[in-house]
Amino acid sequence: MTKPLIAGNWKMHMTVGEAVACARHLRELFPEPIDREIVIAPPFTALWPVSQALTDSPIGLGAQNVSDEPKGAFTGEVSAGMLADAGCRYVIVGHSERRRLFGEEDAWINRKLIAVLKAGLAPILCVGETLAQREAGDAFPVIEGQINAGLKNLEAGDIARCVVAYEPVWAIGTGRTATPAQAEEAHAFIRSRIRGLFGETQSADLRILYGGSVTPDNIDRLMESIEINGVLVGGASLNIESFSRIIRYSKG
Ligand code: 13P
Repeated sequence: MTKPLIAGNWKMHMTVGEAVACARHLRELFPEPIDREIVIAPPFTALWPVSQALTDSPIGLGAQNVSDEPKGAFTGEVSAGMLADAGCRYVIVGHSERRRLFGEEDAWINRKLIAVLKAGLAPILCVGETLAQREAGDAFPVIEGQINAGLKNLEAGDIARCVVAYEPVWAIGTGRTATPAQAEEAHAFIRSRIRGLFGETQSADLRILYGGSVTPDNIDRLMESIEINGVLVGGASLNIESFSRIIRYSKG
């Protein structure tokens, strides 16, 4: 079974100097490979210097966004090939902040995900419903639509490199975490959809992360569920003390 993945999404925080200092601190705390995979996703400007700071470290590097185009006259965009060149292994695609604030819709997210795979990197596809959608009883249809569209046109075997993150929008940055039962239910639903699309083996091996107000106080309970194969952490990953406590989660 693949290792659980603990990923920190630093969003639009940290100067180059701060990001490098945090990365160095983290590698001091986790110098050797352990039974869980650690990834940090700093802003674009810090990717290359952080990748240098992480040379020969088991800690992986991720980007927070990517262009769906390989190169060309696309001012302000960064391609998947450039991210690979800067040392990234993972790319977050379809984060709810990008969907909501920057107009990214499913077909575009799907093109980004395919661009990431083509560059040899691993996409972390974010899905999740808003509070209004949950309250209307639409959480699962929304998630299903995001999964179907986000993973469209994937070739057999591609899914093995993908990670899915369930991030209910109402839990992001709100301090209101999904209960372990809510997360488990959504993860089981996502896995059943993946089974329908790609088959039993691929669905059993897929890592599904939970994201939304993960903290040192709730990580142990969340990770108790066999459906939760890791977490995507925002705010609490900006502080290396709290992020390292999250990485050191223990079940029960
Ligand atoms: P918070 O952990 O700050 O709620 O953010 C979650 C998130 O958006 C991770 O991608």
